[in-house]
Parts: sequence; C-alpha cells; structure tokens
Amino acid sequence: MKTKILEINPKKIDLAKIKIAAEEIKKGKLVAFPTETVYGLGADALNKKAVAKIFQAKGRPFNDPLIAHIADTKELYRLYKQVPPVALKLAKAFWPGPLTLVFKKSELVSGIVTADLDTVAVRMPADNIALSLIREAKTPIAAPSANLFGKTSPTTAQHVVDDLSGKIEMIIDGGKTKVGVESTVLDITVEPIRILRAGGISLEKLKEVIGQVKMSKELEGGFRSPGMLNSHYSPQAKLILVEKKGDAQVEEIRRLASEYIAQGFKAGIMAKEENQNKYDRFEVKVIGKGTELETCAANLFAILRSFDKEGFEIIIAEGLKEHDLGLAIMERLRKAAAPKQML
Ligand code: TXA
Ligand code: MG
Repeated sequence: MKTKILEINPKKIDLAKIKIAAEEIKKGKLVAFPTETVYGLGADALNKKAVAKIFQAKGRPFNDPLIAHIADTKELYRLYKQVPPVALKLAKAFWPGPLTLVFKKSELVSGIVTADLDTVAVRMPADNIALSLIREAKTPIAAPSANLFGKTSPTTAQHVVDDLSGKIEMIIDGGKTKVGVESTVLDITVEPIRILRAGGISLEKLKEVIGQVKMSKELEGGFRSPGMLNSHYSPQAKLILVEKKGDAQVEEIRRLASEYIAQGFKAGIMAKEENQNKYDRFEVKVIGKGTELETCAANLFAILRSFDKEGFEIIIAEGLKEHDLGLAIMERLRKAAAPKQML
C-alpha cells in the first residue's frame, strides 16, 4: 500500500482536504492525524473491521484497549452506559484537552475497541485538525498513538512515516504536536477517581477540580491494567535513566558515559539545559530547562527518536522533577528504561 500524505495548515484548515481524509475513515481505512498530544492512528470506532486494522498496522496485541475520540461532549451519551456528573464536570474543565475518561460502555461500543472490558476510554482532543476530522467523519474515531507497538510515540508526521509508511492509507501532516506526551487516563468508575496513566493534564490540576484523585497501583509499581506494559515508549538504543539529584546525578552520568564509550559504544546524554556544559566531552541533547517542564514534555519523544536516527546505542537520561508534567515525563522515561519483556 502506498501511504498518502496530506499536508494541512493547522492555523488555516482546508476543509476540502479534511473531507478527503474523512472519506477514508468512513470507508473503514486508517488515517493518522495530529492531536495536541501525539499523532493518533485513527479508524471509525463503530466499524469493527476498521478497528482491527489498527492493531495489525501497529503490531499491537488485542488486549490493549483504544481511546475513542469525539468532537462533542454529547457523544458521551452514545458511548457510555450512562453519563456520571463527574464526567461532565471534568469535560467542562478540561475538554477539548489531554484528558481521557474511562467509564462503563454502552452497547454501541464493540469489545474490539475496549479489549472486551466493560469500560470505554473517551477523549476530546484540543486540535482543530483532529476535531474537524471527527466532525466530517461523523463518527467517533478510535486512535492509539501512531507508532509501532512498544515504541516511542510520534510528535511529527515524519515519525509516523518512519513507523507506519506502507501500512496505512493516509497521514495528515499538521506539524509538530504541542503537548508532546499523551493524555492523562482517568478511571472514573471508582471512588476516589484513579489516574491510570499520567499525562498532559497534571495531578495538581485535576485535584483543583475534583478534589481527591489517586494514582493507580500500577503507577506505584503493583497492579497492571491491560496494555500498560512496564516496557514501553522504547527507543532502539538502550536507555539508562539516572534519577539521582544535583551533582551526584551529573557525576553518575559522566561515569556511565565514559564507561560505555570506553567499551566502544556510541553513547549520548539527554540533559537539562542548565547542565549541558557539565558534559562537554560528550554528545549531549538538551530536553529543555529543568524548570520548564512543558517544553521538556514537548521535546521528549522527538529527542529519543533523534538519538536512534543518529545511530546511538546508549542514551543516558537525566531524571526530571516529578511535579506537573514532570510526572508524565518520568513515567515514560522509566518505562522506556525498563528491560524489554514479552507479553
Ligand atoms: O494522547 C493520547 O491519549 C493519544 C492521542 C492519539 O489521543 N492516544 C494514546 O492512545 O495515547 P494509546 O492507545 O497509545 O494509549 C491509550 C491508553 C492505553 O494505555 C490503554 O491501556 C488505556 O489508554 N485504555 C484505553 N481504554 C481503556 C479502558 N477501557 N480501561 C483502562 N485503560 C484503558
Ligand atoms: Mg501509545
């Protein structure tokens, strides 16, 4: 299959192009499209055959459920069994935006979308291309991140080309995504509400709106929900995350980099801007200022992919502060650093 690339300017959306992409969705084809978090690999969420193609293209196991993307909060009444007040409260505060709400599904939603769970994950993305596409397709769009299973998520159309070219019908190129890490996934079937995956909406912001929120046990190192593998977001290079603080962090990274280079490996360092000069003998890529976590999140996946493109075998990464978006960044770095495992 030859993958068509459709360039759309996010600031001046060409509706004729959106309609072309929406036609593909209606025909049961796969279209990758930008959202504010990462690129998604979309299919008509109400078409089982189309949804099955997503799993094939990504090499994703069927036990990993998908998010249904909507452009109107009213759609919740079709997708959920009933709509709890807290869903409307969260939607009002954070949609469109990087927040996914998991609640009991309606009959309309097939088990192929939800990995046979009785819940479905729904979100309204804050991206005009994504919203127009959903509106024109006149159906919720099921979409995981548009990367090969287990790999780093895509924040540019080129990343999607690198992973999925020849395997999907179309890629909409709408430039670089803004947030850079995926949505926060919230389980709203339980009291208190639980975060299943840290992401673009921080724990701090959620607490302002709904008070008590718990991290899932999985994030604390125990229980695992389907699809939430320990090893994920992995670059091809081996990633080593150094979580020490201050001078100890710098020293440990210098020691590790020297050791790997002495053994003949091509090793690079992902550092905060303020520490860049402390590694002057080494190859360094800067993720952003340690205090500017939004910038760091936006750069994270593109940097990991650029190490791979340049043939690095080892990436040694500085840990970041674990508040606000730092929580989402560190969750991804820990998974990217975890030893690869079979399902
Ligand atoms: O920002 C995002 O969320 C991006 C963009 C494209 O919207 N999408 C994304 O999808 O990251 P994906 O499939 O890569 O991650 C979805 C996560 C998975 O970890 C999955 O296990 C979880 O959401 N999930 C989906 N449905 C669920 C459900 N019913 N119960 C629990 N977890 C669920
Ligand atoms: Mg993903």
